[in-house]
Amino acid sequence: MRTIITGVGHFVPDQKLTNKDFEKMVDTSDEWITTRTGIKERRILDKNKGTSYMASKAAEIVLEQANISADEIDLIIVATVTPDMPVPATAALVQKDLKAKNCWGFDLNGGCTGFICALATGSQFIESGRHQKVMVIGADKMSTVLNYQDRTTCVLFGDGAGAVMLEPSIEDDQGVQDFVLHLDGLGAEYLNIAGGGSLHPASYDTVKQNLHYVYQDGKTVFKHAVNGMTEVSELIMERNKLSAGDIKFLIPHQANYRIIDAVAKKMGLNPDKVVININKYGNTTAATIPLAVSEAHQERKIRKGDWLVMTAFGAGFTWGSLLLKWAID
Ligand code: ACO
Repeated sequence: MRTIITGVGHFVPDQKLTNKDFEKMVDTSDEWITTRTGIKERRILDKNKGTSYMASKAAEIVLEQANISADEIDLIIVATVTPDMPVPATAALVQKDLKAKNCWGFDLNGGCTGFICALATGSQFIESGRHQKVMVIGADKMSTVLNYQDRTTCVLFGDGAGAVMLEPSIEDDQGVQDFVLHLDGLGAEYLNIAGGGSLHPASYDTVKQNLHYVYQDGKTVFKHAVNGMTEVSELIMERNKLSAGDIKFLIPHQANYRIIDAVAKKMGLNPDKVVININKYGNTTAATIPLAVSEAHQERKIRKGDWLVMTAFGAGFTWGSLLLKWAID
């Protein structure tokens, strides 16, 4: 038994924050941001809405596309680093929004690799035969954890959500074929949000020290991201006896255009084989991959039978790759 994706959707807020807007906020330029990251603009969600709002919107599109009612969902997995609140899980709030009466669910924190972790996890529930319909969502409201006075991080991220429906298939050569996932906590010091957890609970001091914002040692993360994403993507292709020519698209996490370009070059993939939308949305953390898949599907770039390799690197460090044969016509 295999796990296939039977519906895909995404949601991004209407409000845009452009590089020109940032020129008025911090000491930066459109030229620096464009050449160093590939980002031109990103989306920002209203102050009075949380991550679950975007997650539910994306999930509603998926249900419609897969022609499934909310009652049929067995399990909801939400990959996010920006839950609406520490407790309950964002999955619970999505369940309430969708009125999905017959499911359970949980949140998964895999940093920017969260969606691949959630897709791998969801596929195991399908392949075990225990579940028939699993909603996997990647959603983040990064605007809530950014210091808009710190030019080294605030220009990089945006808000968004993407989701897929997983169902079983008896066709062995369809759907999720393989995945490789890694975790290395030595990376924690280079990329984190240190405040607000049990080690540094929110207090006047944690706020004063900006511990509730994303901290990143960009150069260190950059190096590890290029090496990590290349290594797992090459491994997954090699062990499934696929060459660059067999792959329709590499769908990488969208953190920096230069990272994506370096990974694609190392893998011997032409630029037209890489899905890129970082220019429009920046880094939406757990949402980048389902957002990219959803747009590519909407634009009819991906067709049934196409081989896709997804790869990501993020906080943890976490990194991984997932090989999939697309099953929607
Ligand atoms: N505008 C203008 N100048 C800037 C800006 C900015 N927005 N940001 C940094 N600079 C300056 C720096 O201060 C530095 O100046 P200095 O030389 O005078 O000290 C100079 O530009 C170069 O800074 P670097 O940090 O060396 O720039 P770099 O080329 O490495 O790019 C970046 C920084 C974009 C952060 C890059 O390192 C990167 O993309 N890193 C990886 C990001 C990533 O993959 N994250 C993982 C996922 S995130 C998650 O899991 C939540």
